[in-house]
Amino acid sequence: MPVITEIEDLKRMFRRRTPKMFYDYCESGSWTEQTFRENSTDFDLIRLRQRVAVDMDDRSTASTMIGQDVTMPVALAPVGSTGMMHADGEILAAKAAEKFGVPFTLSTMSICSVEDVARHTTKPFWFQLYVMRDEEFVASMIQRAKDAGCSAMVLTLDLQILGQRHKDLKNGLTVPLRPSPRTALDLATKWGWGLGMMQTHRRQFGNIVGHAKGVSDLSSLSSWANEQFDPRLDWEKVKKIKEMWGGPLILKGILDAEDARRSLDVGADAIVVSNHGGRQLDGALSSIRVLPEIVEAVGDQVEIHLDSGIRSGQDVLKALAMGAKGTYIGRAFVYGLGAMGEKGVTRALEVIHKELDISMALCGVKRVEDLSRDILLIDQDFHRFRRNM
Ligand SMILES: Cc1cc2nc3c(=O)[nH]c(=O)nc-3n(C[C@H](O)[C@H](O)[C@H](O)COP(=O)(O)O)c2cc1C
Repeated sequence: MPVITEIEDLKRMFRRRTPKMFYDYCESGSWTEQTFRENSTDFDLIRLRQRVAVDMDDRSTASTMIGQDVTMPVALAPVGSTGMMHADGEILAAKAAEKFGVPFTLSTMSICSVEDVARHTTKPFWFQLYVMRDEEFVASMIQRAKDAGCSAMVLTLDLQILGQRHKDLKNGLTVPLRPSPRTALDLATKWGWGLGMMQTHRRQFGNIVGHAKGVSDLSSLSSWANEQFDPRLDWEKVKKIKEMWGGPLILKGILDAEDARRSLDVGADAIVVSNHGGRQLDGALSSIRVLPEIVEAVGDQVEIHLDSGIRSGQDVLKALAMGAKGTYIGRAFVYGLGAMGEKGVTRALEVIHKELDISMALCGVKRVEDLSRDILLIDQDFHRFRRNM
């Protein structure tokens, strides 16, 4: 077993063990992948101020996200088809998050259903909703999330229309799968993955098949999935969903100060500064570059979270110091899951926790709530892009 000291180690293992079509599905962005790349590289434009001779005994990374206690402010982001990266993936990731003391967010497009994840966990998790054209399905999904005891709803706003990832089309990653002979051969040679998939009954979208009208099998799911993301989603609908849900609402996919202000009008409890991990609008700014503008616009009125590009505890530290109250990791936990199942997700969280703890201490800060821009050194290039007024 290789020694795992960083997220990159888990990524290498994930790549070896997972069929190429699922690795590519995870590890790509839309179109030219500029935004996907810059989500990570823009963190390099921020450096940390080293401080010395500060008593670092008795320090802690504990904090809260929407009022819930967390071991560190790093939640697991909603990732569709997690259960294809590793058999029973959502259940395993939810268990790892629960034991670690961080929130797990279940995607609408998960393989394990919301009821199934609830049965295998003991604490409430968060549910991510995609707004579909089928209003009955949306209403029943909200009710099912309530019945399963979910403690927050993450409503994703940046996927009314699907961005295109070239590799998915080339690999035949469609519903149902249409693998090329080469891809099929690759699937057959990832025997550990294959064995897991053979041993589980969870192989299709658990929240949808048997629940959405007319979707009983893979081929009916195909036509449903292709036409269901609702392009008519607007702020009025967001308001309605907030009323239907009635609990804490987190709006995900905010990348503009004007949209952040609109989020206040609909009563969001938190917003996630996110570009969907570079999978939607290629050419959009990285989340970390947009964060200061959004903090300035609404930071004193709503809790701000950030995702996209986080691969280390240092990245988390930079986002928190810049004004985010919480962060999410998407790919970083999926690497761990694909590499080693539940243990791998735990390992990913441990790596990030250790990096956050030590880096925060070396910056001379003992508590998350004491973090501020004071610990950051920012490259002039970071503020290079401005709106053309
Ligand atoms: C494979 C994959 C599937 C995703 N599926 C969803 C999803 O179903 N719902 C959603 O709101 N976001 C989804 N996202 C976006 C993540 O929630 C998150 O915004 C993104 O992964 C953050 O970037 P990072 O992967 O660089 O951490 C997905 C991301 C990936 C990589």
